[in-house]
Amino acid sequence: MARRYHHHRGNPERVDVIGFSGAFHGRSYAAITAAGNPSYVEGFGPPLPGYVNLPFGDHEALKAAVGPTTAAIIIEPVQGEGGARALPDVCLRGLRTLCDAEGILLIYDEVQCGMGRTGRLFAHEWADAPPDIMAVAKALGGGFPVGACLATAKAAEGMTVGAHGSTFGGNPLAMAVGCAAFDEIAKPETLANVVDIAGYLGQQLHGLKERYPDIIEDVRGKGLLIGVKVIPNNREMMAMAREQGLLIAGGGDNCVRLLPPLNLTLDEAREAIERFERTCEAARAKKAA
Ligand SMILES: Cc1ncc(COP(=O)(O)O)c(C=O)c1O
Repeated sequence: MARRYHHHRGNPERVDVIGFSGAFHGRSYAAITAAGNPSYVEGFGPPLPGYVNLPFGDHEALKAAVGPTTAAIIIEPVQGEGGARALPDVCLRGLRTLCDAEGILLIYDEVQCGMGRTGRLFAHEWADAPPDIMAVAKALGGGFPVGACLATAKAAEGMTVGAHGSTFGGNPLAMAVGCAAFDEIAKPETLANVVDIAGYLGQQLHGLKERYPDIIEDVRGKGLLIGVKVIPNNREMMAMAREQGLLIAGGGDNCVRLLPPLNLTLDEAREAIERFERTCEAARAKKAA
């Protein structure tokens, strides 16, 4: 869409999409090239042209990379797979300013951090730095497979009838499910619950970090996209958590991710913390053995 936008405006040379290390945008050819994770691109042939991958948080590299062929910058406001790394609000606003100044489109991947996960409908709302184009999915369907690509009318200028298509795109079943899930997630009480429960979990996890400095190195993330950087191997931590009846995900930087449902109750959150504490106990015992 970003390339079509520039093409439509008479700048067909603007094709480059800048992405950042640690990102995850999915497993399609373009998505793995945009994210640039070596373990995901390896063996899948030459990288697609027109993608530039920069180190996360390297402002100088970004300034140097932006030029007359830049079409867009793509970023997750909170990296999910990368280990629940939130981009500081000031950086997101900086990206918005840079894109406006250079005529570049700003693309957010809110597939993981959007749809209420951080306590706002979209994570970028915390920074007040809106995108031109945004990918959303996952919670959008409340478990049903659906994704959406949103854009401002201006950014979508090049997407004229016939420019693009998809067999199942806009199918009535997925749209109906998406609308129903959206209505639930967008309710103020759903978002307020995310903020409350995230506050409780954050506080408890920081407490666990104090008590288990040999197991937990860092607690990070935003809202209910929580990353716990662990000292034992994160895959082993996941397996130990599963033995306690707690399903947690892995992530970059040796993190485990806690991604509970947005309607988690305080009692359930307490139970999750108890199970995570037992996991830390088990990890400590294993270390000592
Ligand atoms: C941030 C982010 N972007 C994109 C995707 C890819 O979504 P899909 O697997 O539907 O292509 C994911 C999936 O985990 C994701 O977390």
